[in-house]
Amino acid sequence: MTIISAKKEGGYMPKTLTVANWKMNGNRKLWKELAREVTAGMSEINTKVVLATPAAAFADVSSFLSEHSKVSLGAQDIHQQSSGAHTGDISAEMVKDFGGKYTLVGHSERRLEHHEKGFLLNDKVKQAIKEGLVPIFCFGESLGQKENGRTLSVLEEQVNEALEGVVLKTGEELVLAYEPVWAISSSAGSLGREPSEGELSEVFEFIYKLLLERFGESVASNVKLLYGGSVKADNVAKIISNRYIAGVLVGGASLKADSFLAIARGVASKPNEV
Ligand code: 13P
Repeated sequence: MTIISAKKEGGYMPKTLTVANWKMNGNRKLWKELAREVTAGMSEINTKVVLATPAAAFADVSSFLSEHSKVSLGAQDIHQQSSGAHTGDISAEMVKDFGGKYTLVGHSERRLEHHEKGFLLNDKVKQAIKEGLVPIFCFGESLGQKENGRTLSVLEEQVNEALEGVVLKTGEELVLAYEPVWAISSSAGSLGREPSEGELSEVFEFIYKLLLERFGESVASNVKLLYGGSVKADNVAKIISNRYIAGVLVGGASLKADSFLAIARGVASKPNEV
């Protein structure tokens, strides 16, 4: 891979972001407790966070977030179309109606359990941007793909498919989250270990280079790149020290306010403006 020039490396410094993915966990009592404690705790922490909650939690969670500039609501998925006969799905407009600003797209659990990939995820990314939601596009290789030495080619294919035809004005309309399936603590086929610093550097330099080639530096340098997979309070400092990592996507550790806030505090220690 071509080494990125020092000038271009220096250009990557987007604002930091910490995303909670609650997955299919909790109940109204837990959701309200988490939303209350996270919003209170964030008053002392200089970064932004997103709570990607089950759709059933939107009403409860959003009641804590109105006027809160540091904590946003996000969905875990949206349909690629605006409305219609799509039983069980939710639209970007519904997310926005509750004040939501973000949506995950292409999480590995949706790829695995709902067979989402390729064109469909590209359509979801475009739909989110068209409707004014920021897609947090998730990508990552499986253990088998890693063991076969296919990590970079798999990531390149996933990212290129998702971004085909995507037009960005500033780069702030898009977030990419690298989540190697083998590192996600709860996923099937997971080793539940975080990547080494060398593994992170190789992947994130590669992804940033793909963005540079596709969008040019002024846009690429505003696209937030997140890491997700077994992020905890005690490993966030190491992860966030990578120059291309602007934040993290947190599963299990986001279900307790104190551990999630400790992670957000770790992300906030990165010397980027919020
Ligand atoms: P864990 O933090 O539980 O490993 O989950 C990561 C993830 O899938 C977040 O989207």
